[in-house]
Amino acid sequence: MFMSPAQVARVASSVLATILLSSSVNASPQKSSSRRATTCNGSPDLCDRSFGNVTFVGAHDSYAVGINNLATNQDYNITQQMNDGIRMLQMQTHNQSGVIQLCHTSCALYNGGPLSTYLGTVKSWLDANPNEVLSMLIVNSDDFPPTAFDAVFKSVGLDTISYAPPSASIPATQWPTLGSLIDSGKRLLTFMDAEADFTSVPYIIDEFTNIWESPYDVTTSFDCSVNRTKGDSSTQMYLINHFLDSLILGQPAPDPSQANQTNAVSGTNSLGAQFELCVSEYGRNPNFMLVDFYEYGGGSVFEVAATANGVTYSPTTPIATPIPQGSSSSSSGSSGTGSPNGAATAFSQWSSAWVVVSSAMIGAWCAL
Ligand SMILES: *[C@@H]1O[C@H](CO)[C@@H](O)[C@H](O)[C@H]1NC(C)=O
Ligand SMILES: *[C@@H]1O[C@H](CO)[C@@H](O)[C@H](O)[C@H]1NC(C)=O
Ligand SMILES: *[C@@H]1O[C@H](CO)[C@@H](O)[C@H](O)[C@H]1NC(C)=O
Ligand SMILES: *[C@@H]1O[C@H](CO)[C@@H](O)[C@H](O)[C@H]1NC(C)=O
Ligand SMILES: *[C@@H]1O[C@H](CO)[C@@H](O)[C@H](O)[C@H]1NC(C)=O
Repeated sequence: MFMSPAQVARVASSVLATILLSSSVNASPQKSSSRRATTCNGSPDLCDRSFGNVTFVGAHDSYAVGINNLATNQDYNITQQMNDGIRMLQMQTHNQSGVIQLCHTSCALYNGGPLSTYLGTVKSWLDANPNEVLSMLIVNSDDFPPTAFDAVFKSVGLDTISYAPPSASIPATQWPTLGSLIDSGKRLLTFMDAEADFTSVPYIIDEFTNIWESPYDVTTSFDCSVNRTKGDSSTQMYLINHFLDSLILGQPAPDPSQANQTNAVSGTNSLGAQFELCVSEYGRNPNFMLVDFYEYGGGSVFEVAATANGVTYSPTTPIATPIPQGSSSSSSGSSGTGSPNGAATAFSQWSSAWVVVSSAMIGAWCAL
């Protein structure tokens, strides 16, 4: 068939139009078929925010659960912590006969069980809460190689939902949005203080090249100085250690008696006051705020974070209530991821714990 140049042009443009049309028709189902989270960490407003631009509340020594015990920092297990709004789980790992175990300073003082059990709980919670991004901060006290952690992550299936950044360190502004982390299914960000190695296990992220920290083991008042970093603190995310210790026989120990005020939205030495101090010094909000006995203050720690993020704090269920020291609940009863070992249980009364502290404490009590 013969076509004039004009016909050729018409055919060509209609073919082109068909191609463009079909590609645009194809493009929209592709877009709508990939899941697009509409609520991220409890709010539609957070989906488009970079992970590095959100303030999260973290549980310091999240596994060290119990009352009437100087080696515990939390009253409630990690499931309750996460249900109530904790989005960074900090922990200390130790080498117990070759097993990665969650202990406080030493496994004789407090043994929170194997990391594998703890991570299994984290996996279950993440599976049940698909629109949540969670971080973990691991203090690798006995310098296990990241491959040893990788094996435990794999054993519970956490490796497949772990986010691996494109490079070993990322400035605060360059992290992906919460929405894209949720859409990609990589919703767990794990930071480690020592031995992280991007080339061997990229999802175990080096803490101090990505995050700087304020001082820890504070027994007087909180400042916002750069205490530890291995990077450029002006561009990194940052973490404030907002847990107040009291000195017991010269050693810092967690102090629930002051936690209502420490965790408060405002007032002397409150979380809100340290937050404001940091903002006034650096012009941007802290990314992570680590607290002890998070439920003291009745949700005040989450209120500080919500205000920082420009969202409303409106928990769907009331958060846990403080368990008074000296009450009869045993320390192991409220521990979800493990329980104190025999030695710690035997010394679980406050007075006896003094003996444990004085005789056994050599290093810093709750050194990160
Ligand atoms: C952990 O301890 C065992 C001995 O109990 C030892 O053989 C192993 O080398 C230790 N692992 C590390 C990473 O230090
Ligand atoms: C960091 O904080 C620790 C504990 O508060 C303190 O002992 C140390 O001197 C601080 N280091 C720096 C560099 O500020
Ligand atoms: C903390 O506040 C709660 C609720 O207001 C109160 O029941 C509890 O006794 C307080 N705890 C301490 C140690 O002050
Ligand atoms: C997020 O960005 C806003 C706007 O620039 C800023 O005010 C806030 O401090 C940032 N938050 C964090 C955690 O970086
Ligand atoms: C964690 O604590 C809650 C109560 O806060 C309890 O219902 C749950 O059974 C505990 N989980 C485990 C594994 O102990």
